[in-house]
Amino acid sequence: MCYSDGNWNCRQSDMCSSFWHDRWEQNKIAFHQKEVNQAFSRYWHLVNLPPRSTVLVPLCGKSYDMIWLRDQGHRVIGIEFSPIAAKDFFDENGLSPTVTHHRTFECWTADDITLFIGDFFALESADTKSVDGVYDRAALIALPPTMRKDYVTHIDAIVPPHAPTLLITFEYPQHEMEGPPFSVMQSEVQQLYENRHTITELVSKDVLNDNPRFRDKGLSSLREVAYHLAPT
Ligand SMILES: C[S@@+](CC[C@H](N)C(=O)[O-])C[C@H]1O[C@@H](n2cnc3c(N)ncnc32)[C@H](O)[C@@H]1O
Repeated sequence: MCYSDGNWNCRQSDMCSSFWHDRWEQNKIAFHQKEVNQAFSRYWHLVNLPPRSTVLVPLCGKSYDMIWLRDQGHRVIGIEFSPIAAKDFFDENGLSPTVTHHRTFECWTADDITLFIGDFFALESADTKSVDGVYDRAALIALPPTMRKDYVTHIDAIVPPHAPTLLITFEYPQHEMEGPPFSVMQSEVQQLYENRHTITELVSKDVLNDNPRFRDKGLSSLREVAYHLAPT
């Protein structure tokens, strides 16, 4: 079983897929933000991609940030387990996707946005060879400690080496709450990314009052931290 049982030792994403499918089926998606993430819209320009660049959004859910990226003139590739997320995303944004099949994936496409529905770890470099940049909000921190290294290794394997990343994490005392979302401290971001990136912290903001559900679960502090990861 997966971390739905408080077992943080799972190593395989298929062990976690039922957890996430259940979350979507039961509409327990408090991670979804109805507005564009503020740190993202404020700092994305530092990633410095020209219009028509392709941005990979791993573990994308139905994030409205993908519409914002599209509105900046970017092409977007999202990857997400849940077809409910894909359907909601296109419906809620008034888009009519075409659906095709590619290996194990369904690919929903409309208006310069393609969502691959399936397992992120099944993506291959041929699927993402056009990617110029990565936006990670609530993807790394959705994964238990045992899977985070594999996640970064897989990103490194499939994303062209010139691609920068905007990464947004949460930091909180991990013993006060079980993830997901997990707390990923700056030291771990360093360990995971420093081999291939120059890491710059852009902002660290106290967001506990904006997230009363976490305060109710007993968190004494919660910070949202944004990083620019520039390839070296
Ligand atoms: C915490 S949510 C964040 C969603 C989105 N990034 C956002 O900011 O709203 C994590 C999402 O990743 C998806 N997910 C988790 N593991 C995955 C995997 N291995 N492959 C594809 N999607 C995955 C889940 O279904 C869930 O929608």
